[in-house]
Amino acid sequence: MTDREAVAALLAAHPPAAVVHTAGALGLGSIAEDSVATLGEIAAAKVLGARHLDELLGDTPLDAFVLFSSIAGLWGSGGQGAYAAANA
Ligand SMILES: NC(=O)c1ccc[n+]([C@@H]2O[C@H](COP(=O)([O-])OP(=O)(O)OC[C@H]3O[C@@H](n4cnc5c(N)ncnc54)[C@H](OP(=O)(O)O)[C@@H]3O)[C@@H](O)[C@H]2O)c1
Repeated sequence: MTDREAVAALLAAHPPAAVVHTAGALGLGSIAEDSVATLGEIAAAKVLGARHLDELLGDTPLDAFVLFSSIAGLWGSGGQGAYAAANA
């Protein structure tokens, strides 16, 4: 999901009637102590996945376009700062 060309190839090989994006990486740690690289790694599957699907599908008619998230993205979760931000 972080590789735009790979997502494009997947969609070309399997044109979807609906999309449910559930890819994600759970990272445990304090956001104050995580490096920028760690924040990027944890956010990548969620955020780039959503972006790539949105850009590549454009106005393609779909029965559903679902981005799966965690409640951590709404009100946080202890030790899951980067994960919460990625889900938000
Ligand atoms: N489990 C929970 O309690 C819970 C609660 C709230 C929300 N969620 C959400 O539900 C979804 C699934 O959770 P889960 O517990 O089933 O998690 P999981 O077991 O860790 O599965 C995550 C999946 O995402 C895939 N993935 C990670 N990075 C990827 C990438 N860059 N490209 C493509 N696939 C990638 C993983 O593939 P690999 O195995 O190949 O790495 C794995 O199949 C996630 O979006 C999570 O945030 C889970």
